[in-house]
Amino acid sequence: MKLQDKLVDALNKQIKEELASAYLYFAMAADFEFKNRSGISGWLKAQAAEEVNHAMRIYDYINDRGGKAVLAAIDAPKASWESPLAAFSAALKHEQFITECIGKLVKLAREAEDTATEVFLQWFVNEQVEEEKSAGEIVDLLTQVGESREALFMIDRELGQRQEG
Ligand SMILES: [Fe+2]
Ligand SMILES: [Fe+2]
Repeated sequence: MKLQDKLVDALNKQIKEELASAYLYFAMAADFEFKNRSGISGWLKAQAAEEVNHAMRIYDYINDRGGKAVLAAIDAPKASWESPLAAFSAALKHEQFITECIGKLVKLAREAEDTATEVFLQWFVNEQVEEEKSAGEIVDLLTQVGESREALFMIDRELGQRQEG
């Protein structure tokens, strides 16, 4: 069954949101790379790569269902964050926004009685739980250590352990 046009449009909008997420994380990575926080930067680059994969998942799904992926313009993200805490707080807020977007997509698929799309979106529903959890944990950690240079050094090293994917 071919995807309904309104679902193609909504899924294309989500491709844009996922790529905008990648753009945001790349911008943060560049900022912390510049500020010699290579661990944080590495974590953010891995996160950006994940977001590109999210976009590709939707791209493939649209194609599998006989639709066409169409790319929209992406606004430039900020270039600088005053601290790792400011960046990860922004990341958490952003992930909460993406969770809302996914929720709306699920609702749309349900209203369109497109079960395949609804099932496809379940992966994203679960992924957003993880996304909010990981950003939230880092926000908590950074809040606890405050301005401690030593603790920030340790956190930078810890975040640098993250593997791609
Ligand atoms: Fe994502
Ligand atoms: Fe995400």
